[in-house]
Amino acid sequence: MARYVLPDLDYDFGALEPHISGQIMELHHGKHHKGYVDNANDTLDKLEEARGKKDFSRIVGLEKALAFNLSGHVLHSIFWKNLVADAGDAPSGELARLIVRDFGSFEGFRAQLTEVAATIMGSGWAALVWEPIAQRLLTCQIYDHQSNLSQGGVTLMVIDAWEHAYYLQYRNQKTEFFKAVWNLWNWDDVASRLEAARGLDLQIPAAASPVTS
Ligand SMILES: [Fe+2]
Repeated sequence: MARYVLPDLDYDFGALEPHISGQIMELHHGKHHKGYVDNANDTLDKLEEARGKKDFSRIVGLEKALAFNLSGHVLHSIFWKNLVADAGDAPSGELARLIVRDFGSFEGFRAQLTEVAATIMGSGWAALVWEPIAQRLLTCQIYDHQSNLSQGGVTLMVIDAWEHAYYLQYRNQKTEFFKAVWNLWNWDDVASRLEAARGLDLQIPAAASPVTS
């Protein structure tokens, strides 16, 4: 059976400096992300054990642990791909067109996603998602790793708003981190996630007005 694996980064730990320090990247990837991968695999083992013993008395806690750790794994894996050194431009092509269509302007989108990150209560993520029923882009807050995401929504782009993502470098100035990350977006990555997500059909065409553009 498939196991979850910590993916290597496409760049060196220090490649995103000065916006994200190499020390943060090393700890964030090697300790925090790895922890979610290990715990997701460990939870799968415990579920297998429970099935073997026909004892599901701990199923609620195990499902919660699986959702927390697997979602942490998925979100971090997307986050690393979303970032690239020497970025900082606005997106282009179809991604840019849909951002303007659904948020009014790139600046409006940037302000909204940054505010989504800055106002998360406790730990969580800000996300740009593709919503396949109305076939539009939306932002959302993901508390911890695993909630408040519209069912069917596909995550395209995320900002890690957990303290471990910025505290060593930005201390209590977390909004400075949320501004700095706009120097690092890999728009080619976000655009290819969008293209893939647009192929998703939830088979409930009557649930939104017809999409024309
Ligand atoms: Fe994180």
